[in-house]
Amino acid sequence: MKVKEKVLELLLEAEGKTVSGQEMAERLQVSRNAVWKAIQALQKEGYWIEGVTKKGYVLLKESSRLSEAVIRNHLKKEYRHCPIHIYKELDSTNMTLKQLAEEGAPEGTIVLAEMQKEGRGRMGRVFYSPAETGLYMSMLLRPNLPVQDLQMITAAAAVAAAEALEATAGIETKIKWVNDVYAHGKKVSGILTEASLSIETGSVDFVIVGIGVNVMEPEGGFPKRLKKKAGALCKEGEMQEGIRNLLAGEIVTRFFDFYHTFPKYNFLDAYKSRSFVVGKEIIVHKAEGDIKAKALGVDDKCGLHVVYGNGQHEILRSGEISACQDLSESCSDIV
Ligand code: BTN
Repeated sequence: MKVKEKVLELLLEAEGKTVSGQEMAERLQVSRNAVWKAIQALQKEGYWIEGVTKKGYVLLKESSRLSEAVIRNHLKKEYRHCPIHIYKELDSTNMTLKQLAEEGAPEGTIVLAEMQKEGRGRMGRVFYSPAETGLYMSMLLRPNLPVQDLQMITAAAAVAAAEALEATAGIETKIKWVNDVYAHGKKVSGILTEASLSIETGSVDFVIVGIGVNVMEPEGGFPKRLKKKAGALCKEGEMQEGIRNLLAGEIVTRFFDFYHTFPKYNFLDAYKSRSFVVGKEIIVHKAEGDIKAKALGVDDKCGLHVVYGNGQHEILRSGEISACQDLSESCSDIV
């Protein structure tokens, strides 16, 4: 960690109280000049740090920028050692983390970006990731799990995101099978889990869990193609200071708490109780075409139990569905 990040950590720890330059220099074992330079750099980045004569420095409010030290401070103690990499701009946090994983990065490595040029969504779609209005984050896992259980990682991430959104933004959330988080009837968060399998053993080499959250409506609103479906936690210009750092910390902490209970899956009830589609008419998108169905429930492996118009039942383990209310066309037009 750079001196700048360490100074920020000390100021955060002080929770609004003044810390002297001398004390910081001694604790970090650097010169007072290095502390002063770090303070200046932080102020330039937008941190509101005031110098109080003969007392030292005080951090008055969190910058809205993503910050390693602030995120770390929001993590549960046992996860504070996780390597965190923050970038201003990336093609995709999942892709950058994949590269780090291939170079040997440890489980728990986290990558975040202020914006993504080619944010990856499910089914080859692009995840719209404009600058500074969203949270774009990927976490690296090296699980000892059979491939068929990887879906539970995605489900755990969906519950972690849903609970974190509720705790930080005070909203009610639903989970649209398998992993979209909805608030006020619109999608506010999506999850893309990508796995690398070892060809020799067929086992899981590493897994990347990518989470995108629309925190604030982008300037001018979402692009036309997304307007109907996409929502955000808050309106343009109403983003709470520091909420993305807080959200990142809350999501990571909750996710790893769930992950460490595998294969107990203690998030299952929370997943089931938030279902956006159970009891509803849905469309199952299959290679052979769209089929109308009713969602009956979620099983203990997060499969979706559906019944088709012809009375046939199926447990969906993966794939894509739409809730009829999401579609512009009427569900009754679809077989
Ligand atoms: C979806 O809704 O289709 C999944 C969207 C997942 C988006 C996130 S943003 C952070 C991470 N990096 C990516 O390229 N994608 C995921």
